[in-house]
Amino acid sequence: MLIRSCGLMSNPATERFCDLVRQSLDDGTFVRLVLRPSASSTETDPPRRIVTRCIELRGQPHLSITAQHARQDRTWNLPLPEALAWLRAELMRTPKTAYLATTTRDWQWMTTSDGPRVVGHPPSQTAPPPRTHDQPHTTWLDESARDWLLALGLVDASGRPKPSAADKYRQIERFLEIAAHQLQHCGWLPATTTAPTAVPGTASPGPASTRTLTVVDAGCGKGYLTFALWHLLTRKAHHPVQLFGIEARPELVRSVQAVADRIGARGLAFVPGDIATVDLPGCDILMALHACNTATDAALLRGIRYGARLLLVAPCCHHQLRPQLRPPPLWQPVLRHGLLAGRFATWLTDALRVLFLEWAGYKVRVVEFIESEHTPMNLLLSAIRVRPPFRDPARRERILQLKETFGIQHHALDPLLNGSPTTDRADASV
Ligand SMILES: C[S@@+](CC[C@H](N)C(=O)[O-])C[C@H]1O[C@@H](n2cnc3c(N)ncnc32)[C@H](O)[C@@H]1O
Repeated sequence: MLIRSCGLMSNPATERFCDLVRQSLDDGTFVRLVLRPSASSTETDPPRRIVTRCIELRGQPHLSITAQHARQDRTWNLPLPEALAWLRAELMRTPKTAYLATTTRDWQWMTTSDGPRVVGHPPSQTAPPPRTHDQPHTTWLDESARDWLLALGLVDASGRPKPSAADKYRQIERFLEIAAHQLQHCGWLPATTTAPTAVPGTASPGPASTRTLTVVDAGCGKGYLTFALWHLLTRKAHHPVQLFGIEARPELVRSVQAVADRIGARGLAFVPGDIATVDLPGCDILMALHACNTATDAALLRGIRYGARLLLVAPCCHHQLRPQLRPPPLWQPVLRHGLLAGRFATWLTDALRVLFLEWAGYKVRVVEFIESEHTPMNLLLSAIRVRPPFRDPARRERILQLKETFGIQHHALDPLLNGSPTTDRADASV
């Protein structure tokens, strides 16, 4: 039987998917259910995703549903029979994909030109999550971050993230999660320090080491992530730091320096100038988040040449390789499409960055920085120096081969091919 609701019709695949959700809720294998509107959705302000989890309320299982919109989240709870009716109506309302994770198998529901389909996948998680209503939210942005978050306009006076800053707030939390992991790896944040629950006054252990770290945020803009790393290093790791936010726009520098002065942010200074040339005393950690085009490479060159141990770089727009692309015959039918060629050039730029970093002695992880629905520029290259630089000719050869394969004459990191860092520090032991 076909059930019609607002245009789309239920069909056996939709019914089967709803049944799988019901079964997993009944037998306790349910992990989560996520819905994403498809690009063809015509809704005004559709949620970017809807995340649901199973919770106990007054002794009864409920589905807790959070619709994540651009400016704010909306959460409500439904008892199971109503939740299943809601799900069926959602699937029929507008085209979307739905992903059900259970402890035994994951299931994906998607609309295709032949109608909805259900596809099975191996389980992404084999243990059920807790069903408690109020799970403690762990975050580095606890009470001790209130002063700078407030001064930068990210939270209101009671410490709640402002709806208009919700995306930035999430980005800061994600950045701190990645940075904390890497700082622990480098021994700059004690391995025992974990993100506190959002309860005031949570203590953290003393510093992992006491040497003053020099940190550079290249292209720091309004300083949100500069303050975030400073907060993690000074207030959570209790590390002495001198942290420089470098920014080409003097008016931004003036306004964020005023915030740093107002909250007495010891060790934090904002400096006007160009990433490529500004005077720096050194660099243990370099971050460059969404610095435009080849400014990312200018930052990487500085970090590598100063022998920075940790690099955290989120590339932004990529313009350098696209006009140079000369694909080999096998790739020509694919890359004759402008859109594909543009995306491929972006990938190639970042792939070459990774190879250059490996040649320079770094171990690189490529991670998702922000969810891809917020921006396509959502990669973060996280690199820790693990070897002396420029020693393994095979790594250099990989760069040359990849460039040659796609006809690339010039990449902004080419100066590294000479393998001659301009300071002694880059040759220091790792
Ligand atoms: C997209 S914003 C990102 C700001 C910040 N990193 C963040 O993620 O919130 C990029 C910033 O980099 C700055 N910038 C770009 N090229 C630069 C350069 N060569 N030297 C200094 N700053 C630069 C821009 O002025 C801009 O404020």
